[in-house]
Amino acid sequence: MSAEPILFPRDTQAGPARDAWWRDAVVYQVYLRSFADGNGDGIGDFAGLRSRLGYLKSLGVDAVWVTPHYPSGGADGGYDVIDYKAVDPVYGDVEDVRGLVEDAHGLGLKVLLDIVPNHTSDQHAWFRTALADPDSPEAARYHFRPASEEPPNNWQSMFGGSAWSRTPDGRWYLHLFTPEQPDLNWDNPEVADDFDETLRFWYDLGVDGFRVDVAYGLFKDPQYRDNPGVYSPTLFGHGPEQVMTTNQPRIHEIWRRWRAVGDSYENGRMLVGEVSLADLKQVGLYARPDELQHAFQFRLLKSKWDATAFADTIAEALTVFASVGAPAPWVLGNHDKARQVTRYGSLRRARAAALLMLALPGSAYLYAGEELGLPEAEVPDAAKKDPIFFRSGGARAGRDGCRVPMPWDDHDALAGFSAAGSAAPWLPIPDGWRDHAVNRQAADASSTLSLYRQAISMRSLYPALGSGLGAVSRVGDVIRVDLVARDGDPDPVTCWINMSGSAAFVPARRVLLASDRTGVQERDGIVELPADTAVWVTPNSVDLR
Ligand code: GLC
Ligand code: CA
Repeated sequence: MSAEPILFPRDTQAGPARDAWWRDAVVYQVYLRSFADGNGDGIGDFAGLRSRLGYLKSLGVDAVWVTPHYPSGGADGGYDVIDYKAVDPVYGDVEDVRGLVEDAHGLGLKVLLDIVPNHTSDQHAWFRTALADPDSPEAARYHFRPASEEPPNNWQSMFGGSAWSRTPDGRWYLHLFTPEQPDLNWDNPEVADDFDETLRFWYDLGVDGFRVDVAYGLFKDPQYRDNPGVYSPTLFGHGPEQVMTTNQPRIHEIWRRWRAVGDSYENGRMLVGEVSLADLKQVGLYARPDELQHAFQFRLLKSKWDATAFADTIAEALTVFASVGAPAPWVLGNHDKARQVTRYGSLRRARAAALLMLALPGSAYLYAGEELGLPEAEVPDAAKKDPIFFRSGGARAGRDGCRVPMPWDDHDALAGFSAAGSAAPWLPIPDGWRDHAVNRQAADASSTLSLYRQAISMRSLYPALGSGLGAVSRVGDVIRVDLVARDGDPDPVTCWINMSGSAAFVPARRVLLASDRTGVQERDGIVELPADTAVWVTPNSVDLR
């Protein structure tokens, strides 16, 4: 079985954007609640994050994305925002954000915050007023429908059940997520105006950009027509069956507007959108030169351990993003998805996938803890917090297992997340979590942390990695990615990943890095690549035409 190589062109964007920092950046996602607790209340915070910036620097990443830090109703892990221009006191205050940005910039790191424009919290001042007074301007900023027996249409919440709930006076209001997250009405220009102010508020503080929550949402069918089908969380993303609630054409006007706000600042600002659409061509449209710099595609994240799925996705994503002149952003894990080690079935596979991702042209997004090879944590039902678990009546496990605190220190019962003697962590730290601790892995050259550090540092040494031009091909369950840098590079690199159950033999001049050295043998220009292993090699020859 073999597959023709698929050439992917270099991204074509011209001008300053071509050399912008974000084109091949490694971005590290911090789940703020779980990263580091600075004040001993069992909840991660800005003081904790600031104290760990040296760690991020030594890991070699370019930027940190911080999950929502706003005052929140707590219905959905901070994605239900009460006040967009404030910091939840549990995490610190606005001065802490300023301090974070200053410290990070001092180390050469960028800071992205998370912004949530599709919905607010039901405790947001606008929604409170809207509940009290149906004729208020605030009510016109949400989707209310008149009282009736049945919900206004068949729209479903992504967390289960109808997307409509009733107010105490009998009206219906729309929420694509939990009832505590009422959807904003983006047809009302006051909403867009207000978000411009929020962007400027944080940009004026020095923040470098935003990760945009539900960037494929915002607009809804103005006539509230039924969706033709049902959303399945097991799909690659939303498709035409959700056309009335996702990917409405006017969404692109908003991203052009937000891009212009960012571009009005010196050196610009950066936006990465969550674009959970099944059709990659549609995702690509969000990353056109005057829209978002990065549009997350989740096809790779949602692919099983399967060489055909991986190779096809990589080739298609690279082609789609190149066609709009945008870099491809890659992601294997985040705060919404079970950890790679558990999803792929082994640490060995997770390490191999990481090496593949870090070779691919474009930017890579890491989720805190993946560099430690953390598995999905067992969280007892009684300790769970995720509304997905509760709203599905326990049918879906929910996302708590990838959100437990980071283990920093194996000497310490709280794994160094909080200082000794602190309050219990907001999610329980599993037994054995200390085995994964940063201090232990930092001292071990074969640890997963050391692998990530080496791989990221090699992206600077070999411009072919994470950049430019190449080809992807697949033979059986072995994928090959050939890479050369954008500007006539003397050091091409090939990444091989063996996703089959047995050893493969691949040509190579020299192995630069292996996801796991065990079993990797080099002999006479041939490398023995064990199952579930990836290598970066100097190729014997490259012919990319
Ligand atoms: C995004 C977030 C997720 C959140 C949802 C609603 O998908 O990543 O965590 O629950 O939006 O805001
Ligand atoms: Ca704290």
